[in-house]
Amino acid sequence: MSKSKELLWQSRFSQPFDREALRFSSSVHVDGLLYREDIEGSIAHATMLAEEGIISKDEADQIVGGLKAVETELTSGILVPVWEDEDIHTVIENRLKELIGAAAGKLHSGRSRNDQVATDTRLYLRRNIDRLTSLIVEMQATLLDKAEKYRKTIMFGYTHLQRAQPISAGHYYMAWHSMFGRDAERLGDLRKRANISPLGAAAFAGSTLPLNTSRSAELLGFDEVFTNSIDAVSDRDLVIEFISACSVIMMHLSRFSEDVILWTTAEFNYLGISDAFSTGSSIMPQKKNADIAELVRGKTGRVYGNLMNILTIMKGLPLSYNRDMQEDKPPLFDTAETTAQCLSIFRRMLEDTWLNEDRLAKLTADDLSLATEIAEYLVRKQIPFRDAHRITGKIVAYAIEQGKTLTSIGLDEYRTFSDAFDEGIYDDLKPDSSINSKKSSGSCSFGSVEAQISRARAAK
Ligand code: ARG
Repeated sequence: MSKSKELLWQSRFSQPFDREALRFSSSVHVDGLLYREDIEGSIAHATMLAEEGIISKDEADQIVGGLKAVETELTSGILVPVWEDEDIHTVIENRLKELIGAAAGKLHSGRSRNDQVATDTRLYLRRNIDRLTSLIVEMQATLLDKAEKYRKTIMFGYTHLQRAQPISAGHYYMAWHSMFGRDAERLGDLRKRANISPLGAAAFAGSTLPLNTSRSAELLGFDEVFTNSIDAVSDRDLVIEFISACSVIMMHLSRFSEDVILWTTAEFNYLGISDAFSTGSSIMPQKKNADIAELVRGKTGRVYGNLMNILTIMKGLPLSYNRDMQEDKPPLFDTAETTAQCLSIFRRMLEDTWLNEDRLAKLTADDLSLATEIAEYLVRKQIPFRDAHRITGKIVAYAIEQGKTLTSIGLDEYRTFSDAFDEGIYDDLKPDSSINSKKSSGSCSFGSVEAQISRARAAK
């Protein structure tokens, strides 16, 4: 529709821009995603220009009305951006000109596409920070429900992927709750830095027009205005920070996915996933695969790649704006979209999982993972921990050699390792007493898990 003949900057050139060069440099197919932010920024700018008497009230009204019409056309698909228009800013301005005529030419007073795109990017960041934050809040709610449901369920805690000590399964879910909590905090910190307006920095040096930058910032809901116009248009550290915060979210999701994948194998068989979130095989009829978790794990690579992408784009750029910076958008958009999708689908899948409680109870009932209890029992009998550890190690070796479990070793046998042993040792060799005897704060005891859950619920 809006196939422009002349680009915004062409008057000083005598030759037309090469078509392949235009196609190569056009960003419409990518930054088209920013049309709402771009229009929001333009409406604020035009409003401020009129308030300051830089354009008339009537011109501003025409511009604002026209921009709203362009937004409706873009949303409904009546206006389809074409790459010949170079970027989304041009698409919108050209269409505005078609709709309202001469007044459209006044919108760009005191503004450059440099501060315009920086404004769009910050609005996009703010919207996506809020979007990801609410997805994390939902994830935490699901984790709290899981922790509550399984707070009395006993499972193995692992180190080195070897059975380590029995824990409350609720403790496991609350560990993820804490990690996602920090992810949300990171986004919250970043939001403060992102919510600063670059509008009015113009190309990079500011403007001779009496712009009221605080007013346009206020209209856009920004907390503050830039302090340096070069910085306002030429840094992309916020994009880097956002992708980096998303990389940490993805790292958490990827690790969590790994547990899901492992725990749903026949070998572990700790966790079930509903059919709605599983796939089968086209040749092996028995297969039930955790593809959603695998894809989340796989997509983590894309987000890490995006982080390296933007870091590399920025590393050698002289101040201030350089066209290279247009390349920040594919990694930014891909990261926001991928992270949001992964948080959403992973949470829904997680909601539809269940722990195989019978199997966990059977496996944890009389396992060598209770050995730490023996060592701590001896410590309570005044044996130095190092000696207690050595004695217990010998007992474990003996159990393995004799094919016995820790509870099937008799008291007379225990006493051959240390005369500190009495009948009381068997009370400690139960997973629930092991869990409950943890006294330190934040431990895996049932009481501690309940405290974690109620603290988290109260903090909401
Ligand atoms: N499409 C450009 C970007 O995303 C907009 C700014 C263009 N500025 C310029 N001086 N060519 O960075």
